[in-house]
Amino acid sequence: MSRIDLPQVAELRQKAEAAGQSHLFDRWTQLSAAEQESLLEQARCLDFNLLSKLWKEGVPSFSSDSPAANLAQRARPLRQIVRTPRSSTEVQMQQEARECGESLLREGRVAVILVAGGEGTRLGVAGPKGMYPIGPVSGSSLYQILAEQVLALTGRFGRKIPFLVMTSHATDQATHAFFANHKWFGLDPDSVQFLRQGVMPAVDRETGQILMNGPGTLIMNPNGHGGLLEALQSSGAFDRLEQQGIDLLFYHQVDNPLVHVADPVMLGLHHQQHAQLTVKVVAKQTPEEKMGVLTEIDGQVRIIEYSDLTAEDVHRTTAEGDLLFWAGNTAIHVFDRNTLQQIAVAEESLPYHRAIKKVSHLDGSGNWVVPTAENATKYERFIFDVLPLVRNCLVMEVDRDEEFCPLKNSVGEFSPEHVQRAMISRSLRWLSTRCEVPNSTDPVEISPLLALDVSDLAQWEPPTTWPNGPFLLK
Ligand code: UTP
Repeated sequence: MSRIDLPQVAELRQKAEAAGQSHLFDRWTQLSAAEQESLLEQARCLDFNLLSKLWKEGVPSFSSDSPAANLAQRARPLRQIVRTPRSSTEVQMQQEARECGESLLREGRVAVILVAGGEGTRLGVAGPKGMYPIGPVSGSSLYQILAEQVLALTGRFGRKIPFLVMTSHATDQATHAFFANHKWFGLDPDSVQFLRQGVMPAVDRETGQILMNGPGTLIMNPNGHGGLLEALQSSGAFDRLEQQGIDLLFYHQVDNPLVHVADPVMLGLHHQQHAQLTVKVVAKQTPEEKMGVLTEIDGQVRIIEYSDLTAEDVHRTTAEGDLLFWAGNTAIHVFDRNTLQQIAVAEESLPYHRAIKKVSHLDGSGNWVVPTAENATKYERFIFDVLPLVRNCLVMEVDRDEEFCPLKNSVGEFSPEHVQRAMISRSLRWLSTRCEVPNSTDPVEISPLLALDVSDLAQWEPPTTWPNGPFLLK
């Protein structure tokens, strides 16, 4: 017997109609009971008011007061920045920051957040990107390489580090199963928490109508990495972290196996400078490189997306003749927990951005449409929109070869081959500080359980004879 709640159907239909989405219920009577229930479930989760508002207003690229092009004109060089150390004084300052960060880890004040809800469309493999076997010798997954860093830090500092993994409807089940099948990579399962992010429907770019995947199914996408704030708030994670005495959140993305998870130097600098948000940047390889860049606008650190810079902008220089837009965003952050929670609950939280994409869908006559041109608008929130909302933001420059090479594409730049080459080069560089490394094409890999950075190899005894073939140090 159907458990359909008729008054609720009427209410949702009314809401849908008021928001210009009445087509959702056009085929209601032809749906099976299961399809009807599924449609109701999805409609209940929709914020019709928000959708209408976004559609009517359009979505600003940055904020309503300032068109993106205008922002680039107002950009100035960053002032609160720590560059990669060049002098012995700077090396000493980073050492002091490292000691401070290590104390924070020892005191149990840090949690690690991994965002892994993206659909990984450019990489184009089935399943969550975090499961991709990127280890050049071990075939370890991205999840394993990141989780084992948390495990190594836990052992080193004698404190459990809460590890929060944000998933989405696209990655949730497979990620849970993967962690369970790999025994949580040695972590205490109680210290691993999965948060499921929210969704936003894809809409027709001409009409604003939600696109359908099937007779009772809407096309839904994860609501962007900025959906983290809502996920932390609605899951109660913010409150739990507060109760656990956590005040610093180390944020990273699933695609970068070179990341130094919970880097003590970064944590220490953040703490010493009373920052609310710290961002790691790398120097762009060329002015044209397609990366979001950090800059200062009206005294506030912000990101400008590469698509918002003209060919002329990217070559602009400062009075000293340096490139103005040099600081490429790595999406590695430390957040002050309290600040992030305040932003999460504020009425005007992060804005939505709009992406115009090709989306196959079921049309009103029940035909499956594969578009030849971009037909749909998707809405996403971005984590870097936190930047304009904080007063005290620290930017930290790091060496790209050491910390940044994200897996994005199936071929070419940031493909598996490119990322593995970067991993091997870094391992060889670390090893060359301890021994003579043979000139061979065989891959080499260093497990995070052996070394989190080059200094950890100081205790390592190099082999008397270098093995033939691939070499995994663990
Ligand atoms: P990207 O923006 O590179 O997206 O995500 P993606 O899903 O990995 O790949 P494409 O664009 O579909 O090819 C950067 C990071 O943000 C996470 C991703 O999992 C990745 O760690 N992310 C992205 C989310 O957690 N949720 C989202 O809604 C989007």
